Amino acid sequence: MLIDLSGRTALVTGSTQGIGAAIATGLARAGARVGVNGRSEERVERAMAAIRAEVADAELVPVVADVADEEGARRAAEALPRVDVLVNNLGIFGEADPLTISDDEWRRYFEVNVLAAVRLIRQYLPGMTERGWGRVQNIASDSAVVTPAEMIHYGMSKTALLAVTRGFAKQAAGTGVTVNSVVAGPTHTGGIEDFVYELVDSSLPWDEAQRVFMREHRPQSLLQRLIEPEEIAAMVVYLASDHASATTGGALRVDGGYVDSILP
Ligand SMILES: NC(=O)c1ccc[n+]([C@@H]2O[C@H](COP(=O)([O-])OP(=O)(O)OC[C@H]3O[C@@H](n4cnc5c(N)ncnc54)[C@H](OP(=O)(O)O)[C@@H]3O)[C@@H](O)[C@H]2O)c1
Repeated sequence: MLIDLSGRTALVTGSTQGIGAAIATGLARAGARVGVNGRSEERVERAMAAIRAEVADAELVPVVADVADEEGARRAAEALPRVDVLVNNLGIFGEADPLTISDDEWRRYFEVNVLAAVRLIRQYLPGMTERGWGRVQNIASDSAVVTPAEMIHYGMSKTALLAVTRGFAKQAAGTGVTVNSVVAGPTHTGGIEDFVYELVDSSLPWDEAQRVFMREHRPQSLLQRLIEPEEIAAMVVYLASDHASATTGGALRVDGGYVDSILP
């Protein structure tokens, strides 16, 4: 299957590292012009250099903005007035005692993980529907369906994102615009190696260490290893393409079989 996104402009929120950086790289490799987003110029420049090291002719647009607030969304619109493929990847996560977590922290999770995506969808969806083509993708998590007791606030935000996805897919019905979420599972990003070595024998080589970690601490995973960010990016690139024109309103899993469900 050949995927050619040339002529399309994409915005990937939170793309200076991790899954977002892999998605931005994948979309650029497929020929899209990609808005690389993060909160500081330095980190955005560094991320763009890393993408260019892999995709020499990548067409990249820096989008330096904290898209978790209205001002940030406005700045994104200035940098990229037209977006054909919107990937709401930005998301924060962290453990918190559900009995003592503050109201402000609940609100912050809603603002960053849900409202930021809603705001950008409102900003870009009308243009997509007018042009008769568009892709909106929201990066959800296994925690959307398997609520973690130590991160109820995070699980809630990702469950809400699934509802937002379904709702906006209905809003875009019949327009040529598809709206989907991608349910990512435990992924090999950022500080995860340190986290794994805190829990398993630190003398083990990485491949073995992650298998022990998955077996003992994430036994629901059928993959039995962490997911690589590029594996999530592959789904996003496919969904961004013309090949995925009949897939909308869905929650597509790249979770390594973590969610124990027959339906996707
Ligand atoms: N990692 C996992 O195992 C996993 C599993 C399931 C789902 N997910 C989901 O996948 C997505 C990406 O996760 P990740 O682990 O790759 O994230 P990450 O490594 O923590 O990266 C977060 C990215 O977001 C940016 N960012 C943070 N706040 C921002 C803001 N207010 N405005 C703009 N950019 C902001 C950061 O850039 P700057 O610091 O440069 O601003 C960074 O590029 C999230 O939605 C997460 O919930 C992750």
